[in-house]
Amino acid sequence: MHFGCHLKIFIIIDVLLLLNVTKPSFSDDSNAAIAIDCGATSQGKDGDGRNWDIDTKYLSSQGNSQTIKASFQDPSLPSEIPYMTARVSNSDMSYKFPINSTSRYFLRLHFYPTSYSSFNISNSYFSVIAADFTLLSNFSAAVTAEALTQAYIIKEYSLAPLDGVDSLELVFKPSNKHAGSFTFINGIELVPTPNLLDSANLLGFSDQSLDGKTATTETIARLNVGGNYIPPTNDSGLLRTWYDDTPYILGAAAGVTSSDNDTKGVHYKDMPRYIAPSDVYNTWRSMGPDPNITLNYNLTWSFSVDPTFTYIIRLHFCEHIYSKVNQRSFNIFIYNQTATPSGADVIAWTGSKDVPIYKDYAVSVQDGKGQQELLVALHPRDGADKPEFYDAILNGLEMFKVNDGNKNLAGPNPAPSEALVKAEKEKRENFTKDKPNINVIGAASGVAAAFGLATVLAVVLYKKKSKMPRLKSGTSSWLPIYGNSHTSGMKSTIGGSSVASAQLSTEATTNCRHFTLAEIRKATKNFDESHVIGVGGFGKVYKGVIDGSFKVAIKKSNPSSEQGVHEFVTEIEMLSKLRHKHLVSLIGYCEEDGEMALVYDFMAHGTLREHLYKGNKINLTWKQRLEMLIGAAKGLHYLHTGAKYTIIHRDVKTTNILLDENWVAKISDFGLSKTGPETNQNHVSTVVKGSFGYLDPEYFRRQQLTEKSDVYSFGVVLFEILCARPALNPSLPKEQVSLADWARSSVRKGNIDEIIDPHIKGTIKPECLKKFVDTAFKCLSDHGIDRPSMSDLLWNLEFSLQLQESGDASKATSNNVRNNQNDNINMHLNTLNLEEDDQFSAATSSSSNEQNSSTAIFSQIVHQTGR
Ligand SMILES: *[C@@H]1O[C@H](CO)[C@@H](O)[C@H](O)[C@H]1NC(C)=O
Ligand SMILES: *[C@@H]1O[C@H](CO)[C@@H](O)[C@H](O)[C@H]1NC(C)=O
Ligand SMILES: *[C@@H]1O[C@H](CO)[C@@H](O)[C@H](O)[C@H]1NC(C)=O
Ligand SMILES: *[C@@H]1O[C@H](CO)[C@@H](O)[C@H](O)[C@H]1NC(C)=O
Ligand SMILES: *[C@@H]1O[C@H](CO)[C@@H](O)[C@H](O)[C@H]1NC(C)=O
Ligand SMILES: *[C@@H]1O[C@H](CO)[C@@H](O)[C@H](O)[C@H]1NC(C)=O
Ligand SMILES: *[C@@H]1O[C@H](CO)[C@@H](O)[C@H](O)[C@H]1NC(C)=O
Ligand SMILES: *[C@@H]1O[C@H](CO)[C@@H](O)[C@H](O)[C@H]1NC(C)=O
Ligand SMILES: *[C@@H]1O[C@H](CO)[C@@H](O)[C@H](O)[C@H]1NC(C)=O
Repeated sequence: MHFGCHLKIFIIIDVLLLLNVTKPSFSDDSNAAIAIDCGATSQGKDGDGRNWDIDTKYLSSQGNSQTIKASFQDPSLPSEIPYMTARVSNSDMSYKFPINSTSRYFLRLHFYPTSYSSFNISNSYFSVIAADFTLLSNFSAAVTAEALTQAYIIKEYSLAPLDGVDSLELVFKPSNKHAGSFTFINGIELVPTPNLLDSANLLGFSDQSLDGKTATTETIARLNVGGNYIPPTNDSGLLRTWYDDTPYILGAAAGVTSSDNDTKGVHYKDMPRYIAPSDVYNTWRSMGPDPNITLNYNLTWSFSVDPTFTYIIRLHFCEHIYSKVNQRSFNIFIYNQTATPSGADVIAWTGSKDVPIYKDYAVSVQDGKGQQELLVALHPRDGADKPEFYDAILNGLEMFKVNDGNKNLAGPNPAPSEALVKAEKEKRENFTKDKPNINVIGAASGVAAAFGLATVLAVVLYKKKSKMPRLKSGTSSWLPIYGNSHTSGMKSTIGGSSVASAQLSTEATTNCRHFTLAEIRKATKNFDESHVIGVGGFGKVYKGVIDGSFKVAIKKSNPSSEQGVHEFVTEIEMLSKLRHKHLVSLIGYCEEDGEMALVYDFMAHGTLREHLYKGNKINLTWKQRLEMLIGAAKGLHYLHTGAKYTIIHRDVKTTNILLDENWVAKISDFGLSKTGPETNQNHVSTVVKGSFGYLDPEYFRRQQLTEKSDVYSFGVVLFEILCARPALNPSLPKEQVSLADWARSSVRKGNIDEIIDPHIKGTIKPECLKKFVDTAFKCLSDHGIDRPSMSDLLWNLEFSLQLQESGDASKATSNNVRNNQNDNINMHLNTLNLEEDDQFSAATSSSSNEQNSSTAIFSQIVHQTGR
């Protein structure tokens, strides 16, 4: 066997420093953090620069285990290490780690379920036992990943001290209930930690508390509320990952996010820094300034949890704005129970601003079928001792599952929602009706990886409606993914061509339908010129019909195009995972005889631009325009935050916002958008791409791409919609050529009224206009840091729409534009399923359901009739 016996335990200096404060001496190996890349033959660094050791030194019983390299690298993996190698075994195997028996440890298990040589991952069911604790049982990483739509899973446990024992044995046992079962593991981390938990009030039982010190827990969530993803290397010494809280927010009422710009920062006082890094305390989410709104909704986070377990919820707070008691005082509801009968008031707790504090609460989740929903909600206090401002605040949230009386933490594998299973089955049947051998358009998979918690906003099923677009005859042309702008700067070709299919992951091939060249030829009348509806950097785009009546857009590769097999594969891999109501969907692909083609959903109403000032425009109302902008903003927001790493579109403009037959706006041309640092390490482009008129000046100057570049471009789109003129119009006087410059100077001079589209000018409510223009203006700030985030932008647009609607409650919306309030309900659902879609269609088809005052809007969201 090929075991290089080379050991290196690496020491995390931060851990030592901070542990020294609480514990006197640290000289032993047992107090160092361990990270092992299971199955690797040499040590290496992950995307964050952390070192991962080989696993053989710690292997105490290797059974008949093998070290195997994964055959496919999912694009959403944060780094090759530790995911691309695994130790796989169909007998028991175990590791033994030296530990200090008086210390707690974080144990993190990394799983990347994919095919490993001849092992079929669907047969992998196993248990993991640490000391006497059952961490996992009948665990299928593949089933879990599918249900959570993640490519990889990280399980984090906090192990209570194992008094009197100086080693920790970690056993992997394949299940004996499934034939051919095997275990696998990609990475293990063991990090000593101080006692992080103390006692927590058990809600629903007066005077009872739960002792966190002796509990062994599993981390369910760790969120930097109102802030960004914090990688392990930026944690305060314990190598924890803090995630963005956006995907967990229930409903559209997401409040507002803020961050402290005061350099003095956070005064930890007596609180140890390891509790949470200052980034957590420096950013927060509050409910917003308008009491008419804040008093009418709950700011709510939703989590799916296993029944019958007890959970500890830790809430982190730090007040940076107010300094007096009863200025911002609110109630906290956890699992529908009031956690703070006398109210939550951060200043009353801490005595002064900028001082962090955390509060722990415990709840027992009742028995029930499948996973249960656990809500954490905030609401301003009202009544006798009403606060000065009706608002609430939260900076961070952690949730831990506590071991039960049998030293067990394992729950059942999460099941994909019934609606999702049903839809997949229907889809499979519909597509195999004519042809027996065809794959299915599946739900998205592998976007974010949190703690194996089923709250990712990624899964948007292919909607029934959009599957069979009712195309009206004579609709105008449109430009699909790959507009004209992507003509240069693409990566080099990897010669050959018939290799593309071989490079595709099984995941992509099951998520995407494979078309034969004959089918594609038939759909496009052998690529008849009359079917051409656009030309992009990739090649020509044809309109076509498949399966008798299903309209599609087919993008054919130009043989001389620079777009090689690699891009082709990348696009399929990316797009088959990115599915969202406001993104154009990839249906399938064809690769045969050196011809490559991608098949997309057909967008019946073409581009947003052509309805503004080009060709056969139909004068969209202001409300319709706002609704389309909100849709497009949701699509971009999803690209920015739906995945672990931000996906930056890079070419936001009105020709890349397409409209389907129901006038739902969808973002296109995100196929080669830039993803975050890790996945793109090898091909960072220095070529500035994008379209003139929309280009972020900062990106242009510094060639540094951030999601704020998309915000800038979207700001130009906002003015384009308001003024109905192109971003660049060279025929105008010099100072008016660039819309961005012209709009900014008009806003500064206070005469923006003069450049508004005359068709809608009189119909915009002044409050709405003000909010809209303020927002658009901020998007065009010179520096990215001054621009709003996509989620703030979305909130502001939704708010503008409410301002526009409050007052004209009697007016019915045009029935071909979707009712945005109902749409809102769907925005952050854990997994958007057909049930909700059906509800949604039911609600939209009946205009009597429309409620337009802002109170009604929020109560509608709050009451969640659709759930
Ligand atoms: C374990 O840690 C404690 C401090 O918490 C230290 O005093 C002790 O020496 C350590 N024991 C071993 C065996 O390293
Ligand atoms: C893996 O196993 C599953 C279920 O047993 C089966 O449906 C699938 O076809 C197998 N895949 C391969 C590649 O053998
Ligand atoms: C992590 O910390 C480094 C150094 O302080 C900083 O440059 C980087 O931006 C941080 N990363 C994130 C994602 O916060
Ligand atoms: C800091 O924030 C306050 C209010 O939150 C604002 O008034 C001030 O202009 C900001 N300062 C800077 C330097 O951004
Ligand atoms: C809240 O609503 C009341 C009554 O509708 C109105 O008088 C008041 O101006 C509103 N307040 C704000 C801040 O909009
Ligand atoms: C907020 O949540 C609590 C607890 O679930 C509920 O009693 C209350 O009615 C909610 N408030 C609003 C405005 O929805
Ligand atoms: C909490 O309240 C929501 C909304 O009223 C309800 O759907 C849910 O079942 C409640 N949960 C519990 C545990 O009572
Ligand atoms: C193991 O998990 C699978 C998938 O969740 C489930 O179908 C099966 O019934 C479970 N088996 C046992 C023995 O619990
Ligand atoms: C499948 O086809 C049936 C009948 O043709 C249709 O009612 C159903 O909506 C289709 N399902 C999907 C997911 O398209």
